[in-house]
Amino acid sequence: MNLSEDRRLQRALEGWQPKFLDWWQSLGPELPTKDVYLRTAVAVGRDGWAHFDHVPMEQYRWGIFLAERDGDRKIGFGKHKGEAAWQEVPGEYRAELMRLIIVQGDTEPASVEQQRILGRCAPSIYDLRNLFQVNVEEGRHLWAMVYLLHAYFGRDGRHEAEQLLKRHSGDVNTPRILGAFNEKTTDWLQFFMFTYFTDRDGKYQLGTLKESAFDPLARTCEFMLKEEAHHMFVGTTGVQRTVERAAELMAAHDTEDIFEHGGIPVSVIQKYLNAQFSVSLDLFGSEQSSNAAAYYTGGLKGRWQEGRRKDDHLLADATYPVRTVTDGRIVEEPVPYLTALNLDLRDEYVADCRNGVRRWNQALENAGLDARLVLPHEGFNRRIGNYAGHYVSPEGQVLTEAEWHRRADDWLPTDEDRARVAALMVPHYRPGEFAGWIAPPKTGINDQPVEFDYVHLREEALA
Ligand SMILES: [Fe+2]
Ligand SMILES: [Fe+2]
Repeated sequence: MNLSEDRRLQRALEGWQPKFLDWWQSLGPELPTKDVYLRTAVAVGRDGWAHFDHVPMEQYRWGIFLAERDGDRKIGFGKHKGEAAWQEVPGEYRAELMRLIIVQGDTEPASVEQQRILGRCAPSIYDLRNLFQVNVEEGRHLWAMVYLLHAYFGRDGRHEAEQLLKRHSGDVNTPRILGAFNEKTTDWLQFFMFTYFTDRDGKYQLGTLKESAFDPLARTCEFMLKEEAHHMFVGTTGVQRTVERAAELMAAHDTEDIFEHGGIPVSVIQKYLNAQFSVSLDLFGSEQSSNAAAYYTGGLKGRWQEGRRKDDHLLADATYPVRTVTDGRIVEEPVPYLTALNLDLRDEYVADCRNGVRRWNQALENAGLDARLVLPHEGFNRRIGNYAGHYVSPEGQVLTEAEWHRRADDWLPTDEDRARVAALMVPHYRPGEFAGWIAPPKTGINDQPVEFDYVHLREEALA
């Protein structure tokens, strides 16, 4: 967007930029690089995406982009349905809108912080480039949210923009707002699971905000969704290539325990999947929520693909089935739809998650193996919502606390699993070389060969 039109906004963003760069230096990617082959958005249109070049990461263009404005856009749901979309923040929704933007904004730098050390053990230069692409785009997403705070929320917004750089992932005193963003990303398998499951949560949250009656928020999120697609590509193909190599090693050595042959066993991949899926489900909040109802009715946050839903977009009389644990059993009962919108979104998300799992299993099937990956039950390992405080197995059985703990090591990565995975995380920085635990990709980035020099490291990085 063109900032020179608004001097005050320009000054606010210029004041924030050095703080952002300090943050990037101290908590962004740690591996010293000269430059990285990055895709930079230079405009919102289709051609604006074709720009790839080797650039020093700190000179990446952290632009602010909003999808094109549709002058006639009408609000699509809730009690303001049919009215013109808002170009300014209505006073009655100011606090809620600011809160939604802060929570979304907080996740963007958090993931960069979580992934800070991964460059040190990248399985290839190709993967390193993808990590950095994700990192600079999450940095840009932070800019996008800070722009909204500066442009529409005055002094409070400027204060909150500073706080986004002051909370840090995993910090005891000033942690990030949401749980999954305070966990450590210990290795590349977890990074791939994160980009598959947790960035996908981001996609679904952005999908609800892109329906917002507050037009600048809707347009900002619509543009962010385009970048999110690449993050999920990194996750889908990263896990897939890990599974492909596992299948190859299992077939070659006729054993499931392939650690000693340099691969990650499918049983351990499953545990990582269980862990990341369950913390990502917690990000959707409680199944029943009066806040979610208020956000919808007020027009602040819609449903996933609101425009394609065939109902009245008011939902006052509709119901939605919600699962709860009652007397040691999981039962389903209808509740007012408006209160179940977090679950409506989560159910859409889970259906989407199944597609990748199907794809990964294809690699196992192609190798003639019986092993399969599965999504655990929605109640497994939950800390938020109806399943919190209950002990549900990945198959969906309600267990006692003691039974659950007795078997937890079969379901979630143990310290030993993580240590054995970590032992495989040896950096491979020569173009075209790949770590033994992961298959190379079929094609490179932007039609470049797989063995292209995607990242140029500084000498210190090789020491
Ligand atoms: Fe993001
Ligand atoms: Fe993302």
